[in-house]
Amino acid sequence: MATAKFKETSPYVKSKPLPPEEDFLYNQYLEDIALKTDNRKDPILKLALFGVGRAGTIHLRSTISSPRAKLVYIVDDIESNWQNMRKYWHLEDVVFLTSAQSDNVFKDPNVDAVIVASPTVTHEDIVIKALKAKKAVFCEKPVAENKLDTAKCYEMAEKIGTPLFCAFNRRFDPSYSEVRDRVQKGEVGHVHMIKTVSRDSPLPTIEYLKISGGIFHDCLVHDIDIITWVLGEYPDKISVIADANIPEIKAIGDFDTVAVTMHFPSGTVGMIDLSRNSNYGYDQRLEAFGPRGVVQADNEQPNAIRRQYGRRQGIQGSNTAPIWYSFASRFMNGYRREFDHFIDIVLGKAKSLVKSKEILAVSKIATACEESARTGKIVSLDWTKSELPDDQ
Ligand SMILES: NC(=O)c1ccc[n+]([C@@H]2O[C@H](COP(=O)([O-])OP(=O)(O)OC[C@H]3O[C@@H](n4cnc5c(N)ncnc54)[C@H](O)[C@@H]3O)[C@@H](O)[C@H]2O)c1
Repeated sequence: MATAKFKETSPYVKSKPLPPEEDFLYNQYLEDIALKTDNRKDPILKLALFGVGRAGTIHLRSTISSPRAKLVYIVDDIESNWQNMRKYWHLEDVVFLTSAQSDNVFKDPNVDAVIVASPTVTHEDIVIKALKAKKAVFCEKPVAENKLDTAKCYEMAEKIGTPLFCAFNRRFDPSYSEVRDRVQKGEVGHVHMIKTVSRDSPLPTIEYLKISGGIFHDCLVHDIDIITWVLGEYPDKISVIADANIPEIKAIGDFDTVAVTMHFPSGTVGMIDLSRNSNYGYDQRLEAFGPRGVVQADNEQPNAIRRQYGRRQGIQGSNTAPIWYSFASRFMNGYRREFDHFIDIVLGKAKSLVKSKEILAVSKIATACEESARTGKIVSLDWTKSELPDDQ
């Protein structure tokens, strides 16, 4: 009886609470259920997808699931996959081309945009050809193998007046973007320390690593991008210690274990803990700490079950599901949201959240990290006013 005094009137007679803003999936569902037709007058974007490997398959799913996009071409060099791909995804209307035939895409006035998910070494060529043909470009990171070539791509996009979007998917992850929003609102005050843990899973093949551009430009760029985006600031000093504990990775001159420390002009210190091979899943964490508190994006799990066992079969105590195994599952929401954002950019409904100067800055920092790792020296970075993003 003690709590009877807290009884409330029926929820049916009170005004209905709104769903929380954070539940973006439910809010999308409400739009679906209300059959909101505001954006259904928009043209359906016709797309060509270059590369249907690990990343390309994720974008293939996004394209097929979107009511605002239609896939018209797939370009890939593994012709033997095509019949199964066509059957599996019901791609009866899609034309398959090898890279040697890809000019057909650029010449086809029906194609509005190109998704580039082929190996990094092929990006620059595809991006430049697509832009010259006035196709909007969604490009997997990195846009090109170095800063100079990346700048050429953005100059071309600027000259032609066509969007070039670099797919830094973590910016579209609900947790990572929430950390950024809260930090930018000043919830932790001036950030004293920002950290990421980024441990890859599963271990990529050596064939992939050989043409990946190396851990700094292939993996670390994600962490550099998220840290500089959350802070809105660029480091002036960098120190990196790295090694290769996996002999096959050492043999190709790359690293699998990297510790980065960064100093920012305002006094913030950044740390990145990066590994190529986490055996317990795709360990991805972000933390911003300041005088008013800390905001953290922790690992996520496929389900929320917690089990408690007595002593049996070697398991005892509390147990939960493992963390997500790989980028394809952990960042699924981010991949979908970045694709939607790209469509909005092409339709002129949004400005790209990923700016060219930010991408060039990330490339410069990744190069400095590699230099520090290889020379054992602290590398200083100077930034001209024109290099820094406009809101610096
Ligand atoms: N954002 C992310 O989370 C993420 C994750 C993985 C990979 N990536 C990026 O995606 C790109 C591809 O990586 P992946 O792991 O999917 O590689 P992958 O090797 O799994 O797939 C690449 C595909 O491209 C095809 N291909 C090769 N040359 C081509 C060409 N000239 N034109 C068209 N297709 C071609 C290959 O046959 C293969 O099917 C890389 O740039 C990588 O950095 C991003």
